[in-house]
Amino acid sequence: MNIILITGASSGMGVEFALQTDNIFDRVDEIWMIARRKEAMLEVAQHMDHTTRILDMDVTNDAHFERLANLLAEEKPTIRMLINCAGYGVMGKFTKLQAKEQLGMIDVNCRALTRMTYLCLPYMRKNSRIIQLASSAAFMPQPEFAVYAATKAYVHSFSRALNRELRPKRIYVTSVCPGPVDTPFFDIAEKDGKILAVKKLTMTRADKVVAQALADSYHKKEVSVYSGFIKAFHIMTKLIPHRVLLMILGCIQKP
Ligand SMILES: NC(=O)c1ccc[n+]([C@@H]2O[C@H](COP(=O)([O-])OP(=O)(O)OC[C@H]3O[C@@H](n4cnc5c(N)ncnc54)[C@H](OP(=O)(O)O)[C@@H]3O)[C@@H](O)[C@H]2O)c1
Repeated sequence: MNIILITGASSGMGVEFALQTDNIFDRVDEIWMIARRKEAMLEVAQHMDHTTRILDMDVTNDAHFERLANLLAEEKPTIRMLINCAGYGVMGKFTKLQAKEQLGMIDVNCRALTRMTYLCLPYMRKNSRIIQLASSAAFMPQPEFAVYAATKAYVHSFSRALNRELRPKRIYVTSVCPGPVDTPFFDIAEKDGKILAVKKLTMTRADKVVAQALADSYHKKEVSVYSGFIKAFHIMTKLIPHRVLLMILGCIQKP
């Protein structure tokens, strides 16, 4: 049985990945959707043609991981594509935010993503794909989004290195690095009143980012960056010292 496994499939880009892979992949038998909100995934699945498996799972919960590990061991599917979308960010000064929500970002964005990748790899074959949701926040440090940006730098670095390690097996990893995308992500990110300054200028649609990510994954690209603005930002972060960019960012973000 060939499957696609998507985490964060109850909202935003995870939903978009579910809908777009449902349209594209004929030779996949089932799409497995993972998130905590079962009802939201059931609602999405109603609009899909593939057989879906809805797995209500908290990716930070050991017992839930065990349940998934057992299911995989029982069913022994071939995972054609793993899409790690589950993640969140909270903006604000490091010292003002609660420790729990900051450590939670590390648990979901880094630890769970790594664990899911590790769990799924034995079920992947030649030409299987992994799509990891990093962010343009991975490209340089982000004051007042410090832990989130650091988690995404981890995802980006990990994914690029893993792509090289897995090349001999012809398994390909793409690190997806969007700028601001119009999803419920900002309901959590901005809950403490801090608004992302560049959001108005650069906000893009989830369907476009996801279509680009799937195309880039198909073309075995290591990094997927959507929109001219974010591509320019990516190049800038390679050419200009980060201390200069941080100074400019500081001026833009001044109230
Ligand atoms: N939107 C942006 O501007 C943007 C930009 C760059 C990168 N990203 C990244 O893209 C990914 C998707 O974000 P999005 O914009 O689609 O945000 P979203 O709409 O808020 O979706 C986040 C998803 O993660 C799931 N999730 C969070 N914590 C979880 C947990 N403990 N266990 C299981 N699932 C969990 C949520 O499901 P439940 O709540 O149902 O569990 C939800 O399906 C994230 O990694 C985010 O960091 C977003």
